[in-house]
Amino acid sequence: MEVRKMNIIKYLNFLRSPTNGSELSVDENGLLDKQGNRFDIKDDIPRFVEKINYADSFGYQWNIFDKVQLDRFSSHDLTSKRFYKNTGWTNKILENKDLLEVGSGAGRFTEILLKTKANLYSIDYSNAVEANWRNNKDTRDFFIAQADIYNLPFKKYSFDYVFCFGVIQHTPDPKMSFSKMVEFLKPGGEIAIDVYLKNWKSIFVTKYWVRPFTKKMKKEKLLKLVEWYVPKWFPFSTLLLKIPLAGKFLAQIIPILNYSEHFPELSKKELIDWAILDTFDMLSPAYDKPQTLKTLRKWAVTSNLEIIYCGRGDNGYVLVAKKPEH
Ligand SMILES: C[S@@+](CC[C@H](N)C(=O)[O-])C[C@H]1O[C@@H](n2cnc3c(N)ncnc32)[C@H](O)[C@@H]1O
Repeated sequence: MEVRKMNIIKYLNFLRSPTNGSELSVDENGLLDKQGNRFDIKDDIPRFVEKINYADSFGYQWNIFDKVQLDRFSSHDLTSKRFYKNTGWTNKILENKDLLEVGSGAGRFTEILLKTKANLYSIDYSNAVEANWRNNKDTRDFFIAQADIYNLPFKKYSFDYVFCFGVIQHTPDPKMSFSKMVEFLKPGGEIAIDVYLKNWKSIFVTKYWVRPFTKKMKKEKLLKLVEWYVPKWFPFSTLLLKIPLAGKFLAQIIPILNYSEHFPELSKKELIDWAILDTFDMLSPAYDKPQTLKTLRKWAVTSNLEIIYCGRGDNGYVLVAKKPEH
């Protein structure tokens, strides 16, 4: 079977050096900017970041659990539903538009975005890009790179849409992450983000008590621990969830992400697979910085955006906002 290769030349017009903003050219050794800085292309994917960085646990998790949450492998449409419901975007408005996806992980949203007719550019800071490329490269042409939200390798004011779900809370400075992405929107362009919610109940969330220890553990050891206790405690956590009124509160005392009430369409095996993946995902990241709704509104206002939606979403709070035309 022919292996699909990325046609980098096709994307050069959009690309810029993340170091100095100059144009990039391509040769047999990779990408080169006007000041002589080189960026590798490894396994067909341009790499604009240092080899080891704070997002390594994500690269590890998404390369192991690369298929678990993709609609096409789970035969559910949970990601598709979340995308359309939370962004308010449609295939029609995305047609032929330039769309940037930031923090794509194993590519569960990339898969959905590729079903639209948008011109897709997708990046992630970790080597999860390899899982994404494996999962999605055979669908149709798109650009993918290992790159940092703080140093995006693109021309500013180029994108009609910027999409970033499940990412901002995992960056060291969520406000800065947001404003960096806004720089890449065209006038009239829209950005959609979602972020873990912070409110007065956050203090009772067990993960924030155990994370100071678990995030420092070796990722291999932590995964072994999670794979050991999650299947064992899952039935008890499910039982707690069923208790009227107090169930949700009681269940979260056990550090397991249990979707049995939230996604009843998942099979027993899928529920355990999702629980192992997302429990590791909540205990391992270097950063987990939930935000209030008030903060999200402030970010939009500070960046001179018009708010289209700011409120509850499927995974915390969602902000959809537009850059004014002028
Ligand atoms: C929880 S995962 C979400 C992945 C995907 N959006 C999803 O919903 O399945 C968070 C992702 O953000 C990425 N990330 C963290 N910091 C980043 C940064 N500075 N620039 C780009 N991506 C980053 C991680 O590597 C990770 O893949």
